Amino acid sequence: MHSAAMDAFVAEVDARTDILQVVQSYVPMKRRGNRYWGCCPFHHEKTPSFSVVPDKGFFYCFGCHAGGNAFKFISLIENVTYFEAIKMQAEKLGIPMPERERTPEQQARDAQYANLRRVNTMARDFFHNCLTLTRYGEPGRQYLAGRGISEATIKEFSLGFAPASWDMLSKAFLKREVPAQVLVEAGLAAERRQGDGLYDRFRGRVIIPIADIRGRVVGFGGRVLDDSKPKYLNTPETILFNKRRLLFGLDRSHRAIQDAGYAIVVEGYMDAISVFEGGVHNVVATLGTAFTEDHAKLLLQYTPNICFCYDSDAAGQNATIRALGIIQHTGANVRVIVVPDGKDPDEFIRRHGADAFRQLARDAQDLVTYRLRYALAHIPADSPQGKSEIVRAMAPVLDGVQDASKRLEYEKQIAQALLLDEGIVRTELRRFARQEAPVSVGEERAPVRQAAPRPDNAVLAAGRVVIGAVCHTPERLAELSGELPPEALQDNVQREILQYLQGEYSAGRTPDMAQATATLSEAASDELTRALTEENAPGGEAQAYADSVRVLRRDWLTRQREAHSRAANAASQQGDAARAMQELSAVRTITQQLQSL
Ligand code: GTP
Ligand code: MN
Repeated sequence: MHSAAMDAFVAEVDARTDILQVVQSYVPMKRRGNRYWGCCPFHHEKTPSFSVVPDKGFFYCFGCHAGGNAFKFISLIENVTYFEAIKMQAEKLGIPMPERERTPEQQARDAQYANLRRVNTMARDFFHNCLTLTRYGEPGRQYLAGRGISEATIKEFSLGFAPASWDMLSKAFLKREVPAQVLVEAGLAAERRQGDGLYDRFRGRVIIPIADIRGRVVGFGGRVLDDSKPKYLNTPETILFNKRRLLFGLDRSHRAIQDAGYAIVVEGYMDAISVFEGGVHNVVATLGTAFTEDHAKLLLQYTPNICFCYDSDAAGQNATIRALGIIQHTGANVRVIVVPDGKDPDEFIRRHGADAFRQLARDAQDLVTYRLRYALAHIPADSPQGKSEIVRAMAPVLDGVQDASKRLEYEKQIAQALLLDEGIVRTELRRFARQEAPVSVGEERAPVRQAAPRPDNAVLAAGRVVIGAVCHTPERLAELSGELPPEALQDNVQREILQYLQGEYSAGRTPDMAQATATLSEAASDELTRALTEENAPGGEAQAYADSVRVLRRDWLTRQREAHSRAANAASQQGDAARAMQELSAVRTITQQLQSL
């Protein structure tokens, strides 16, 4: 890479490099006359024959004849190339590398980015002006006032309103010579199916601009004013807008996150806006998608302490559990703020004020406590099976706890909650932990969830049929949750999908496939696509569904039975007869269930 910019860069690094300073950071030097002397780092010696002449910018060893300028010295001592030495020194001095010559493709792409950014900024201003200055904005103003959102907040977040018109934005922007293609690429407009021209994506909605970390608008969320569906509409995926990588509000909150020493993650824009308005600024929101590993990485740049504060309904709790699963192996220190009485953070802070919310944050539960309470609330702990299931659920959580004394503490906590012996709990936890698939977050592009030993093909196929069937007929989920909770699926990926579908269903939402694909991990969204496209077995859908549920139940019960019979053996080996009896009775119950399938 030879260019004028590169020559200038090297010249600047050279001019600002003090060879004596460079050498002295490795070798102690003493002055004699206009030279500095020390023991040569490149050969073994006891009397100094290594010298630096700062005025000339050179070093020379009279013993081994090594010599050269500062970069040569760095390249020898760091064992790097000459050019790498220059770059290292430039980095130390804070001198930026000149950008590479850009290929025509790169230039085109950069221009595309710039165009989308520009049109997004224009759209933000258009919506904001529409809300604050025009008569079209009146319904939006009323809506926001009704939610108690102040004018200062409207300004702070540049909230806006998309007029209830099919093409007001498109027309205005085309007139301002924005190419139609750019409007479409930005997700602000779409081509009409019939006839020519464009129609606006956002109509009759309050608009929430979404920015990247540097505060550049990359997309929008739009909320309806009434109860119609969809409640929120987002910019579709564009080259700028990737919901799995964006956190709403991070551009404003990252300093507050560093100051407070932790980040609060909420589920909705409105939650983030209200919490921020209440004076708690270290808050971000996901954009209606599940919390991803990318989100975790973003936040970890600012703090290791991450605090989830999701809605307290079933969907929010499920989403919390999923988020905890994603984040616990990233090394983050995770806690959960529990919002009391069925509220979301927005409603809570409006009703009880910012101080009450801060108190909730102080009372946040640690990961293990939260997870245990969740398990206890969802799995009856009065039977041996239930206890075993809870221990199984806790195993991967505890596996993420590195600190040994903390672990002991948690094991004790679990044992107490289940009225079990601590030693047994510990043994069981270890055993389950080995069985569970590790959830790894490692090098670049590591899959979020590593495949567990995948169940056999018949079971996998059955899982796919069930997933496909409940997507077509979500009402099936009501009954299914009793027969086949998501934990029953052995395959991590299918489990993730079923968990998601169940979460959506219990939140009263119809699972929307586009949304699902955006929310789920890559593996899960691939699997979902497969489930939706695979052909039904002969005999009809209903039959295939019923058969598949049975296959999965059999698999699940069989695994449980194995676990109990192993536990029974272990207990009898340890001489714990009572425990062995319990386990054996669990084995019998499951055997009966299996026979009635
Ligand atoms: P409000 O009802 O305005 O207070 O919204 P909320 O923030 O309480 O919304 P909710 O808890 O229902 O949803 C949380 C987040 O999920 C929202 O901020 C959206 O990002 C997303 N979301 C909710 N409903 C929809 C929907 O219908 N479509 C899409 N794409 N996203 C949605
Ligand atoms: Mn809400």
